[in-house]
Amino acid sequence: MTREFLPAGTAGIITAIPAAPPASIEAEALVVFLTEGGMGSGGSVAVDAATGGTLTRLAAAGELAGRRYECVSLLAPTGLRVGQVLVVGLGRREELDAGVIYRAAVTAARHLAARPRSRVAFLPESTWTTPWLEQAVAGAAVGMVGQDLYRAEPKRTRFGTTEWIGADPDTVARGGIIADGVNLARRLVNASPDHLYPESFAEETAAIAGRTGLEIEIWDEDRLRRERCEALLAVARGSIRSPRLVLLRYRGRPRASGDHPDLAFVGKGVTFDSGGLSLKPSDSMMNMKMDMAGAAGVLGAIATVAALKLPVDVVAAVGLVENMTGPAAYKLGDVITARSGTSIEIHNTDAEGRVVLADVLDVVRGLGPKRIIDLATLTGACMVALGHDVAGLFTNDQGCCDALAAAARSVGEPVWQLPMYADYGEQIKSDVADIKNVGDGRWAGAITAAKFLERFVGDTPWTHVDIAGPAFDEKPRPWTDGGGTGSMVRPLVELARATV
Ligand code: BES
Ligand code: MN
Ligand code: ZN
Repeated sequence: MTREFLPAGTAGIITAIPAAPPASIEAEALVVFLTEGGMGSGGSVAVDAATGGTLTRLAAAGELAGRRYECVSLLAPTGLRVGQVLVVGLGRREELDAGVIYRAAVTAARHLAARPRSRVAFLPESTWTTPWLEQAVAGAAVGMVGQDLYRAEPKRTRFGTTEWIGADPDTVARGGIIADGVNLARRLVNASPDHLYPESFAEETAAIAGRTGLEIEIWDEDRLRRERCEALLAVARGSIRSPRLVLLRYRGRPRASGDHPDLAFVGKGVTFDSGGLSLKPSDSMMNMKMDMAGAAGVLGAIATVAALKLPVDVVAAVGLVENMTGPAAYKLGDVITARSGTSIEIHNTDAEGRVVLADVLDVVRGLGPKRIIDLATLTGACMVALGHDVAGLFTNDQGCCDALAAAARSVGEPVWQLPMYADYGEQIKSDVADIKNVGDGRWAGAITAAKFLERFVGDTPWTHVDIAGPAFDEKPRPWTDGGGTGSMVRPLVELARATV
């Protein structure tokens, strides 16, 4: 299970090594974790003992508090053979969860990856559960990868080797695979939109499919026309870049009768959102290369599910377009007949994500999946409601939504369900067509967008995840370098695991 689906060496070598006393560990840095108000039960205690009570003394002096994501370096500690001990804070013990551990591990790795290091060792706490250790390994591998894909001198350099001391080798391998999925999604989001457009995104997808053994189908413009994907095609018309729809299938279990996937992941893949003729102002347009984060997330998730060889049947579909203002651009007042037959009147060309997803959801619905989850950087309104850190959930099936929320909670990615209030569906009625692509005014804009999507899933249990907030960090924080975050990759992997 050590096979990686990113190009070799992308995440460095990550290994488990047998438990060893701290004094015998040779590395440039040794990372230990500390909870607030007291030494833990593993690494920190052992390092404290090996250094003659240094940590206890520093804690007593108030230099070391174990506050969340606090990083304190002890350089050249006596009694040890490491260049430094990095003590990372986990915050209060009773608030500890997989999310805190993941982010603390990212923080430590980010800190150390600020310069090249050949060997970094992590000493996990002995009380951690297997899922916690897995997320710690994933976090450390995410933290050493930066967003500066195009800098001559990158701010982060991957460690040559990351060693997890006393950790179960299979857990470490799985953590590394999960990090590959997150880092894949991050890299795609961070890529320049001049490099990553529908066709090149589809090529990246084909390369990933080749490395993970996924079945793949790429629909080009001709095929999209034959499939009557007029909604997706309408959005694409303003760009010289030709659109694509990519279908991926991972069969981790024998074909059953009917051949229905257990799960379908759907992603919004607007590789750049200028707003179209309803042009965005420059400030709002600045980070719109990230408008394909949903597509990147579902690709990262299905590749991870395949690399983990989970016994599930999963399909992923991404709708890839560039939303531009070219001479053929779709216009306000245009009426488009979506693949499902529903007619859509365009009131705002910047509400393009839902128009693209209308066709992608219809294609996926036709495959008869037991559940559909879509990821989309869909609305600014969702960010007004929930801020930058929390993804919005919208559903037509409470069981489906609860399963996804539980998966997200288990890896510490915050999500919050918003109501699919029936009367808000009235807001997308059109005078000339079945529906229009915006609500009345901006109130409840995240919900009216979800109401629009709901029209295209039929009776299939479905949950829409609005990741406009969490998909991209404008500024770095201790646990993020800024840029793409790989939002919802880990929850989707957990959902696939729980679906088995
Ligand atoms: N891609 C944007 C949503 C978005 C905004 C994502 C900010 C990430 C950060 C989406 O296509 C959009 O423009 N939505 C409009 C909808 C409106 C015109 C009804 C919005 O939110 O303003
Ligand atoms: Mn838009
Ligand atoms: Zn958009």
